[in-house]
Amino acid sequence: MKHSATLILATALVALGGTALAADAAGAIKDRQANMKGMGKAMKALSETLKTPAPDMVVVKASALTIATNARKVAGGFPKGTGPESGVKTHALPAIWAKSAEFKKHADDLVKASVVLKAAADAGNVDAVRAALPQVGGNCKACHKDFEAKD
Ligand code: HEC
Repeated sequence: MKHSATLILATALVALGGTALAADAAGAIKDRQANMKGMGKAMKALSETLKTPAPDMVVVKASALTIATNARKVAGGFPKGTGPESGVKTHALPAIWAKSAEFKKHADDLVKASVVLKAAADAGNVDAVRAALPQVGGNCKACHKDFEAKD
C-alpha cells in the first residue's frame, strides 16, 4: 500500500516534470542566454580593466566570479527539446544534442579554465589573470564555432 502510493506519487512527479519542461523551453532558453550574456559582459569588463596600467581588482574579482559561476551552468542549460525545433528563437544548433559529448567537453573545459582564472583573481595575481584569460576566451570561441548559429 505504502509502496504503490509512493510509486503513484513518483509517476505523477515525473509526468509533471515532463510537462513543465516542454512548456518551459522558452524559459530554459531565456535563462541560458542570460547566463551567456552575463559571461560576455564579465569578459568585456575584465579585458577592459586589464588594458589599463593599474587594473581595478574589484572588477577583476567580480568578473572572474561571474564567469566561474556561470560557466558551471552552461552544460545544464540545454535540456532536450530546447533547440530550434522548440519554435523559440535560439542560436543553439542541433549539433548540441547530436554531438552531446563534444558539447559537454567544451563546457567542462570552460569550467576548468574559469577555476584557474578565479584562483588567479582571488590571489590578486594580475599576471596570472592575464595568462588565464585567453584560455577562457578560447573555450568560448571553440564552442561557439561548432554549436552556436551565426545569425
Ligand atoms: C559549451 C558551449 C559554449 C561555451 C563553452 C560558451 N558558449 Fe556562449 N553560447 C553557446 C550557445 C549554444 C549559444 C546560443 C544559445 C541560444 O541562443 O539559445 C551561446 C550564446 C552566447 C551569447 C549570446 C547570448 C544571447 O544574448 O542570446 C553570448 C554573449 C555568449 N554565448 C558568450 C559566451 C562567453 C563569453 C563564453 C565563455 C566565457 C561562452 N559563451 C561559452 C555555447 C557556448
